[in-house]
Amino acid sequence: MRSASGGKAGKSDSVRKHEFGCNTIQRQQHMSIQPTVRIRGAEVYKGFLSPERQQKIVADIRAVLRKAPLFSPVTAGGRRMSVRITSAGALGWISDRKGYRYEPCHPSGTLWPPIPESVLDPWCRILPATPLPDSCLINFYAPGARMGMHQDRDEADLRWPILSVSLGDDAVFRIGRVQRGGATQSVVLSSGDVLVMRDEARLAYHGIERICPGTSCLLRNGGRLNLTLRIAGNRA
Ligand code: SIN
Ligand code: FE2
Repeated sequence: MRSASGGKAGKSDSVRKHEFGCNTIQRQQHMSIQPTVRIRGAEVYKGFLSPERQQKIVADIRAVLRKAPLFSPVTAGGRRMSVRITSAGALGWISDRKGYRYEPCHPSGTLWPPIPESVLDPWCRILPATPLPDSCLINFYAPGARMGMHQDRDEADLRWPILSVSLGDDAVFRIGRVQRGGATQSVVLSSGDVLVMRDEARLAYHGIERICPGTSCLLRNGGRLNLTLRIAGNRA
C-alpha cells in the first residue's frame, strides 16, 4: 500500500477517470488513506503530495494560467481582495460588484481550461467514491495576502466535500464553527499538504491568517498557491 506521503507517480496510480468518479482499482488501492490530523472536523493530510507531484501540478497550473490569467477580484462592496484568483473546470468561482458566484467563463470571456489530471489525483486518491469535481479555484497569495473567515456555500449542493491543495510557502489556516464567531483553531498548511472539508466541517468558517514568506522554494518567485476542488454545479 502506498504511503500517504506519496512517492514517484507510476502508471498504476495515474488518474484514470470515468464519467462519474474514479475507478474501482483506485478505490481499492487507496481505501485506507487516513488524515494525519483533524482540526474542527477538517482532515489534514500532511505531506500528501511528493515533491515530484507538486512540481508537476505547478507546471500544469502555469499552463492553466497562460489561458486563464490570475485576476484581483473585488467584493460586492467594492473591496479588492488581496489574493489573486482564477479557475479551471466547467465552473469557476468569481467575485465582483454583482457578488459571489460560479461562472462558466473567465472575466475575459473565454471558457475556463479543464482541470489538469495531476490536480484531480489527490481527489481520486482521498475521495475515490465521490464524483469528480467540476471546479478548481486557484488562489495565489503573495506575501501579505490573506483570506478572511468565510464559509464555502456558493455550490449548488453543499453536501459534496471540498478538497484543497497547498503549494509553496506555508500558510496559517484558521477554522471555526459552522456559526460565525466563537473559538477557532489554526494549523500550518505546508507545500504538499491536502485538506478536506466534509460532513460536519463542510460549512465551517475558515480563512488564511497569513502566509510565511521564504518557507518553500517550490514557486520560483515565492508566495503560495492554493487549489480548491469542488463540485459546484448540479450532479443530479
Ligand atoms: C479558500 O478557503 O478558498 C482558500 C483556503 C486556502 O487558501 O487554503
Ligand atoms: Fe474557502
